[in-house]
Amino acid sequence: MTALLDIAVLIGSLRTNSLSRKLVTTLTALAPPSIKLELIEIAALSFYNEDEDSSPPAPWVSFRQRIKRADALLFVTAEYNRSIPAALKNALDVGSRPYGQSAWNGKPAGVVSFSPGTIGGFAANHHLRQSLVALNVLTLPQPEVYLGGLSDNAFDEKGVCVNAGTNAFLGKFMTTYAAWIAREPSKTVA
Ligand SMILES: Cc1cc2nc3c(=O)[nH]c(=O)nc-3n(C[C@H](O)[C@H](O)[C@H](O)COP(=O)(O)O)c2cc1C
Repeated sequence: MTALLDIAVLIGSLRTNSLSRKLVTTLTALAPPSIKLELIEIAALSFYNEDEDSSPPAPWVSFRQRIKRADALLFVTAEYNRSIPAALKNALDVGSRPYGQSAWNGKPAGVVSFSPGTIGGFAANHHLRQSLVALNVLTLPQPEVYLGGLSDNAFDEKGVCVNAGTNAFLGKFMTTYAAWIAREPSKTVA
């Protein structure tokens, strides 16, 4: 039997009732059986400070180790002021150091963005992809996912989306993503 691929899922929101978190619940429900999603919490990561590289805080160390273990990444992001939330950017920075030892290097990734407004987090989606290029993270090109008009009403009490059209689209995305990461296994470039 082929081993399940281990997917580290990252969101930028720190709030309890986050729509990002509910979307992760939905994507987990829609994921094919070949992959296993785990939401990696980033709230305990203090702001990255290069002075601390010689003696990094324990949450940085365990975060870097967890990302290194993952076969692939899945980013689910809201948009904050036409970019990604600062907490998510900080997680990218923490994982990228010490220099030459980035935890992100060579991982394949999917990007899902959303917004309660109409543009579906388009700016955040592409700001994130810009940083991922620098981090040598390969991102699935298609289908692009910009979910507009998302609100609490789209989810049931367990956090699963109740909109059949959205679920059909997200299910197709997850199937394509799972097939793509199986072809693009985690590669560490020397
Ligand atoms: C500081 C801040 C800035 C935001 N800026 C944008 C924005 O630029 N574009 C947008 O579509 N939504 C924006 N929003 C709305 C968020 O997309 C919305 O609150 C979303 O639900 C946050 O994700 P969460 O539910 O996972 O916490 C902003 C929200 C906050 C708190």
